[in-house]
Amino acid sequence: MSRFSEPQDPDFQRINSSLAFDKRLWPYDLAQSRAHAMMLASRAIISDADLGELLRGLGIVEEELRDGRFQFATDDEDIHSAIERRLTELVGPVGGKLHTARSRNDQVATDVVLFVRDAAAVAIVALDALIGVLIERAEAHLDWPLPGYTHLQRAQPVYLGHHLLAYVWMFLRDRARFRAVTEACSVMPLGAGALAGVNFDIDRELVARELGFAAPAPNSIDAVSNRDFALDYLAAAATTAMHLSRLGAELVLWSSSEFAFVELADAWTSGSSIMPQKKNPDAAELLRAKAPRIGAHHAALLGVLHGLPLTYNKDLQEDKEHLFDVADTLRTCLAAARGMLSSARFKRERMREAASDEMIAAVDAADLLVRAGVPFREAHGIVGGLVRLALDSGRTLSELTDEEILAASAALEPAAFRALLAEESSLESKLSAGGTARERLAEQLAAARAAISGT
Ligand code: ARG
Repeated sequence: MSRFSEPQDPDFQRINSSLAFDKRLWPYDLAQSRAHAMMLASRAIISDADLGELLRGLGIVEEELRDGRFQFATDDEDIHSAIERRLTELVGPVGGKLHTARSRNDQVATDVVLFVRDAAAVAIVALDALIGVLIERAEAHLDWPLPGYTHLQRAQPVYLGHHLLAYVWMFLRDRARFRAVTEACSVMPLGAGALAGVNFDIDRELVARELGFAAPAPNSIDAVSNRDFALDYLAAAATTAMHLSRLGAELVLWSSSEFAFVELADAWTSGSSIMPQKKNPDAAELLRAKAPRIGAHHAALLGVLHGLPLTYNKDLQEDKEHLFDVADTLRTCLAAARGMLSSARFKRERMREAASDEMIAAVDAADLLVRAGVPFREAHGIVGGLVRLALDSGRTLSELTDEEILAASAALEPAAFRALLAEESSLESKLSAGGTARERLAEQLAAARAAISGT
């Protein structure tokens, strides 16, 4: 018997069914069903004999799902109804008791929060591994000079260790964001029923403990409406993916013949179908291109939730594909970043050559004047004039004569000016906290190590 006298239109089923994608929630669905059934028996809402049958049936369902033998029926709407249907086939009408004091609304919210909790844990592990590789590579290349860039123009020399450590701090912040997601996933929706609570004296604390939640959700209406934790996860993933895209973009540039700062390992590149000389940084390019996809999933779920009246609405079914695609894509990207970085070969000579461009020490010359009492703005103009003079006459800054230097400013001592243009003087003078000088970098490396292991 049912309220309906007509079968569902196949096109209705097509738009309505989530089975094709929510299948992968089965481990979470089974875990919560077991915990729920045990709680029902502990409160004598079902008998121990019923519990035994339910657990036996759920065990068989699990084996079938794990081995890929589970037969889905054409009108299974989602993984929850498919499992209940199969359970009832296996154990008879007692299978129908599993849904006592539960609704698909609190059930699906619980599966999704369990999925997100795991996805955040996976991201944290992958980030830790990536950070570990970056720290290792930073240490191994701690004082290899290269130009630092702004506007993609050579700006000031820095050490490679410094540049690689920049990514460490970015990924450490990402890790903190995923930890906040874990926190957002610590509240259990189950027991909220459809929206109002249930007509049985259930033990939500027991189920929460069993499933590893800190507590049951305090408001049943919020519990079935809430997908903030999913949004938090997607936001954390979007920021991480954006960081990975910046890393990817730099690897693409740096591995080009124009830069040639790095050679990516064969295992992380592809050849061209027609140009034999090419070694394409595909994975780095894809790190760049996967980021908008991940960000778009975040924007999409935000759109789904925007203006949605409480409580459960079928719109919420659209949380899943965004989450699943992001979890899979992010995992792939983090592994690729780690693999590429751990096997990349940096080219010391090429980077040094680019870093020894005297022009990029020019800003330090301005500081020399500042120390002699010249206001910074004025000093900047004086050095700008010298750069212009050198460029116009086809010389380097150190090839300018004493007369030319003194003509630009009587406060600019030619010997000091030339010493400053010498290699590394500019690097080692960046002694401010967080700066590129070796001493500061050693401290930064230690701080990064402490940040990754200490927390
Ligand atoms: N497949 C649904 C979803 O993912 C499950 C919940 C359905 N609840 C309902 N009242 N129709 O959101």
